[in-house]
Amino acid sequence: MSNTTFPPLVAGNWKMNGTLASLDEAKALMARLDGKTPACDVMLCPPFTLLFKMGETLADSTIAMGAQDCHPKETGAHTGDIAAEMIAETGATACIVGHSERRTDHGESNELVKAKAEAAHRAGLVAIICIGETIDQREAGRTLQVNTEQLKGSLPEGANAANTIIAYEPVWAIGTGHTPTTDQVAEVHGHIRAELGGLMGAEEAAKVRILYGGSVKPANAQELMAVENVNGALVGGASLKADDFFGIIEAYL
Ligand code: 13P
Repeated sequence: MSNTTFPPLVAGNWKMNGTLASLDEAKALMARLDGKTPACDVMLCPPFTLLFKMGETLADSTIAMGAQDCHPKETGAHTGDIAAEMIAETGATACIVGHSERRTDHGESNELVKAKAEAAHRAGLVAIICIGETIDQREAGRTLQVNTEQLKGSLPEGANAANTIIAYEPVWAIGTGHTPTTDQVAEVHGHIRAELGGLMGAEEAAKVRILYGGSVKPANAQELMAVENVNGALVGGASLKADDFFGIIEAYL
Protein backbone atom coordinates (compact mmCIF):
# COMPACT_ATOMS: atom_id res chain seq x y z
CA MET A 1 0.00 0.00 0.00
CA SER A 2 1.27 3.42 -0.84
CA ASN A 3 0.35 7.04 -0.33
CA THR A 4 0.50 9.93 -2.73
CA THR A 5 3.15 12.00 -0.95
CA PHE A 6 6.13 9.70 -1.24
CA PRO A 7 6.43 6.76 -3.61
CA PRO A 8 7.48 3.42 -2.16
CA LEU A 9 11.22 2.78 -2.04
CA VAL A 10 13.16 -0.29 -3.10
CA ALA A 11 16.64 0.09 -1.63
CA GLY A 12 19.58 -2.26 -2.03
CA ASN A 13 21.91 -2.62 0.94
CA TRP A 14 25.14 -4.05 -0.43
CA LYS A 15 26.58 -4.49 3.10
CA MET A 16 30.32 -5.34 2.97
CA ASN A 17 30.15 -6.32 -0.69
CA GLY A 18 31.30 -4.39 -3.71
CA THR A 19 34.52 -3.37 -5.40
CA LEU A 20 35.07 -1.15 -8.42
CA ALA A 21 34.04 -4.07 -10.65
CA SER A 22 30.61 -4.06 -8.96
CA LEU A 23 29.81 -0.70 -10.54
CA ASP A 24 29.00 -2.80 -13.62
CA GLU A 25 25.96 -4.12 -11.72
CA ALA A 26 24.79 -0.56 -11.14
CA LYS A 27 25.24 0.12 -14.86
CA ALA A 28 23.34 -3.06 -15.69
CA LEU A 29 20.52 -1.96 -13.39
CA MET A 30 20.41 1.43 -15.12
CA ALA A 31 20.13 -0.39 -18.44
CA ARG A 32 17.30 -2.59 -17.11
CA LEU A 33 15.44 0.49 -15.87
CA ASP A 34 15.98 2.47 -19.06
CA GLY A 35 12.62 3.53 -20.48
CA LYS A 36 10.73 2.04 -17.54
CA THR A 37 8.91 4.05 -14.90
CA PRO A 38 8.36 1.88 -11.85
CA ALA A 39 5.92 3.27 -9.28
CA CYS A 40 8.69 3.31 -6.70
CA ASP A 41 11.97 5.06 -5.97
CA VAL A 42 15.09 2.93 -6.38
CA MET A 43 18.24 3.30 -4.28
CA LEU A 44 21.61 1.58 -3.95
CA CYS A 45 23.59 1.67 -0.70
CA PRO A 46 27.15 0.56 -1.49
CA PRO A 47 30.03 0.46 1.01
CA PHE A 48 31.68 3.80 1.83
CA THR A 49 34.61 3.15 -0.53
CA LEU A 50 32.31 3.14 -3.55
CA LEU A 51 30.15 6.16 -2.73
CA PHE A 52 31.93 8.76 -4.89
CA LYS A 53 32.33 6.44 -7.89
CA MET A 54 28.80 5.15 -7.51
CA GLY A 55 27.56 8.73 -7.33
CA GLU A 56 29.27 9.44 -10.68
CA THR A 57 27.91 6.22 -12.17
CA LEU A 58 24.34 6.99 -11.15
CA ALA A 59 24.51 10.72 -11.92
CA ASP A 60 22.36 10.56 -15.05
CA SER A 61 19.98 7.94 -13.72
CA THR A 62 16.88 7.95 -11.56
CA ILE A 63 18.59 5.66 -9.04
CA ALA A 64 19.34 7.34 -5.71
CA MET A 65 22.27 6.47 -3.45
CA GLY A 66 22.56 5.93 0.28
CA ALA A 67 25.25 4.96 2.78
CA GLN A 68 25.04 2.16 5.35
CA ASP A 69 26.07 3.93 8.54
CA CYS A 70 27.44 7.22 9.87
CA HIS A 71 29.07 8.59 13.01
CA PRO A 72 27.00 10.90 15.23
CA LYS A 73 29.63 13.68 15.20
CA GLU A 74 30.48 16.04 12.34
CA THR A 75 34.26 15.85 12.74
CA GLY A 76 36.84 14.74 15.27
CA ALA A 77 39.21 12.11 16.55
CA HIS A 78 37.22 9.02 15.59
CA THR A 79 39.59 6.82 13.63
CA GLY A 80 37.92 4.81 10.93
CA ASP A 81 34.54 6.51 11.23
CA ILE A 82 32.66 8.49 8.60
CA ALA A 83 30.54 11.58 9.30
CA ALA A 84 27.14 12.15 7.74
CA GLU A 85 28.46 15.40 6.23
CA MET A 86 31.16 13.41 4.41
CA ILE A 87 28.50 11.08 3.07
CA ALA A 88 26.39 13.99 1.84
CA GLU A 89 29.39 15.23 -0.17
CA THR A 90 29.40 12.04 -2.23
CA GLY A 91 25.94 12.73 -3.62
CA ALA A 92 24.23 10.28 -1.30
CA THR A 93 20.81 11.41 -0.13
CA ALA A 94 20.16 8.82 2.56
CA CYS A 95 21.88 6.80 5.25
CA ILE A 96 20.88 3.51 6.83
CA VAL A 97 21.24 3.55 10.63
CA GLY A 98 20.70 0.88 13.24
CA HIS A 99 20.89 -2.12 10.96
CA SER A 100 20.68 -5.27 13.10
CA GLU A 101 24.15 -6.30 11.91
CA ARG A 102 25.53 -3.11 13.45
CA ARG A 103 23.40 -3.48 16.56
CA THR A 104 24.86 -7.01 16.94
CA ASP A 105 28.42 -6.71 15.54
CA HIS A 106 29.11 -3.31 17.12
CA GLY A 107 26.78 -3.34 20.10
CA GLU A 108 24.88 -0.29 18.87
CA SER A 109 22.20 0.86 21.32
CA ASN A 110 18.97 2.63 20.48
CA GLU A 111 20.51 5.78 21.93
CA LEU A 112 23.46 5.58 19.51
CA VAL A 113 21.19 4.81 16.57
CA LYS A 114 19.11 7.84 17.46
CA ALA A 115 22.25 10.03 17.53
CA LYS A 116 23.22 8.66 14.12
CA ALA A 117 19.76 9.41 12.72
CA GLU A 118 20.09 12.95 14.11
CA ALA A 119 23.46 13.24 12.37
CA ALA A 120 21.92 12.10 9.10
CA HIS A 121 19.22 14.77 9.44
CA ARG A 122 21.82 17.42 10.34
CA ALA A 123 23.62 16.62 7.07
CA GLY A 124 20.41 16.73 5.06
CA LEU A 125 20.22 12.98 4.58
CA VAL A 126 17.14 10.81 4.92
CA ALA A 127 17.65 8.42 7.83
CA ILE A 128 16.60 4.84 7.11
CA ILE A 129 16.17 3.52 10.65
CA CYS A 130 16.17 -0.27 10.97
CA ILE A 131 14.32 -2.17 13.67
CA GLY A 132 13.36 -5.81 14.09
CA GLU A 133 13.07 -8.68 16.54
CA THR A 134 15.20 -11.81 16.90
CA ILE A 135 13.66 -15.28 16.65
CA ASP A 136 13.92 -15.71 20.43
CA GLN A 137 12.02 -12.48 20.97
CA ARG A 138 9.34 -13.53 18.47
CA GLU A 139 8.96 -16.95 20.04
CA ALA A 140 8.64 -15.32 23.45
CA GLY A 141 5.72 -13.28 22.13
CA ARG A 142 7.67 -10.02 22.41
CA THR A 143 7.72 -8.97 18.74
CA LEU A 144 5.56 -5.86 19.00
CA GLN A 145 7.11 -4.78 22.29
CA VAL A 146 10.66 -5.08 20.92
CA ASN A 147 9.82 -3.15 17.77
CA THR A 148 8.11 -0.44 19.82
CA GLU A 149 11.15 -0.11 22.09
CA GLN A 150 13.55 0.12 19.16
CA LEU A 151 11.34 2.58 17.30
CA LYS A 152 10.81 4.88 20.28
CA GLY A 153 14.45 4.65 21.31
CA SER A 154 15.89 5.25 17.85
CA LEU A 155 13.59 7.92 16.39
CA PRO A 156 15.04 11.41 16.81
CA GLU A 157 13.20 14.64 17.54
CA GLY A 158 12.03 16.25 14.34
CA ALA A 159 11.65 12.96 12.49
CA ASN A 160 9.02 13.25 9.78
CA ALA A 161 7.93 11.52 6.61
CA ALA A 162 10.34 13.55 4.48
CA ASN A 163 13.50 12.89 6.48
CA THR A 164 12.90 9.44 7.93
CA ILE A 165 12.11 5.96 6.63
CA ILE A 166 11.59 2.95 8.87
CA ALA A 167 12.81 -0.47 7.80
CA TYR A 168 11.27 -3.44 9.60
CA GLU A 169 13.81 -6.23 9.30
CA PRO A 170 13.11 -9.30 11.45
CA VAL A 171 16.62 -10.47 12.34
CA TRP A 172 15.64 -14.10 11.74
CA ALA A 173 14.64 -13.31 8.16
CA ILE A 174 17.89 -11.62 7.16
CA GLY A 175 19.96 -13.76 4.81
CA THR A 176 18.13 -16.93 5.84
CA GLY A 177 15.60 -17.42 3.06
CA HIS A 178 12.86 -17.41 5.72
CA THR A 179 10.26 -14.66 5.54
CA PRO A 180 7.38 -13.86 7.86
CA THR A 181 3.89 -14.64 6.61
CA THR A 182 2.05 -11.74 5.04
CA ASP A 183 -0.17 -11.65 8.15
CA GLN A 184 2.91 -11.31 10.37
CA VAL A 185 4.29 -8.53 8.16
CA ALA A 186 0.92 -6.75 8.18
CA GLU A 187 0.71 -7.00 11.96
CA VAL A 188 4.12 -5.44 12.61
CA HIS A 189 3.86 -2.78 9.90
CA GLY A 190 0.42 -1.76 11.15
CA HIS A 191 1.80 -1.60 14.67
CA ILE A 192 4.75 0.56 13.58
CA ARG A 193 2.36 2.92 11.76
CA ALA A 194 0.22 3.23 14.88
CA GLU A 195 3.24 3.85 17.11
CA LEU A 196 4.52 6.49 14.68
CA GLY A 197 1.11 8.13 14.97
CA GLY A 198 1.66 8.50 18.69
CA LEU A 199 5.12 9.96 18.12
CA MET A 200 4.53 12.40 15.24
CA GLY A 201 0.77 12.55 14.79
CA ALA A 202 -1.40 10.31 12.65
CA GLU A 203 -1.39 12.58 9.62
CA GLU A 204 2.41 12.65 9.37
CA ALA A 205 2.74 8.98 10.31
CA ALA A 206 0.45 7.99 7.44
CA LYS A 207 3.06 9.36 5.03
CA VAL A 208 6.14 7.65 6.50
CA ARG A 209 7.53 4.90 4.33
CA ILE A 210 7.86 1.62 6.22
CA LEU A 211 10.06 -0.83 4.30
CA TYR A 212 10.15 -4.56 4.79
CA GLY A 213 13.57 -6.24 4.76
CA GLY A 214 14.71 -9.85 5.12
CA SER A 215 15.10 -12.40 2.30
CA VAL A 216 13.19 -10.33 -0.25
CA LYS A 217 13.61 -12.00 -3.64
CA PRO A 218 11.99 -11.62 -7.07
CA ALA A 219 9.83 -14.67 -6.22
CA ASN A 220 8.28 -13.15 -3.07
CA ALA A 221 8.52 -9.40 -3.76
CA GLN A 222 5.09 -8.99 -5.28
CA GLU A 223 3.36 -10.71 -2.38
CA LEU A 224 5.32 -8.84 0.31
CA MET A 225 5.02 -5.43 -1.36
CA ALA A 226 1.24 -5.85 -1.61
CA VAL A 227 0.87 -6.12 2.18
CA GLU A 228 -0.91 -3.21 3.83
CA ASN A 229 1.49 -0.60 5.25
CA VAL A 230 4.46 -2.01 3.32
CA ASN A 231 5.93 0.88 1.35
CA GLY A 232 8.88 -0.81 -0.25
CA ALA A 233 11.80 -3.10 0.53
CA LEU A 234 15.30 -3.02 1.97
CA VAL A 235 17.11 -5.74 0.08
CA GLY A 236 20.43 -7.36 0.94
CA GLY A 237 21.70 -10.34 -1.04
CA ALA A 238 19.29 -9.99 -3.93
CA SER A 239 20.40 -6.38 -4.54
CA LEU A 240 23.93 -7.41 -5.53
CA LYS A 241 22.96 -8.65 -8.99
CA ALA A 242 21.12 -6.27 -11.30
CA ASP A 243 18.85 -9.00 -12.64
CA ASP A 244 17.67 -10.08 -9.18
CA PHE A 245 17.24 -6.53 -7.94
CA PHE A 246 15.33 -5.59 -11.07
CA GLY A 247 13.12 -8.63 -10.48
CA ILE A 248 12.15 -7.09 -7.14
CA ILE A 249 11.59 -3.63 -8.60
CA GLU A 250 9.26 -5.31 -11.10
CA ALA A 251 6.73 -5.62 -8.25
CA TYR A 252 6.14 -1.91 -8.94
CA LEU A 253 6.07 -2.08 -12.75
P1 13P B 1 18.79 -10.10 2.85
O1 13P B 1 17.91 -9.50 1.76
O2 13P B 1 20.08 -10.63 2.32
O3 13P B 1 18.03 -11.05 3.70
O4 13P B 1 19.22 -8.86 3.80
C1 13P B 1 18.25 -8.00 4.26
C2 13P B 1 18.93 -6.85 4.89
O5 13P B 1 19.53 -7.00 5.94
C3 13P B 1 18.86 -5.55 4.21
O6 13P B 1 19.32 -4.52 5.01
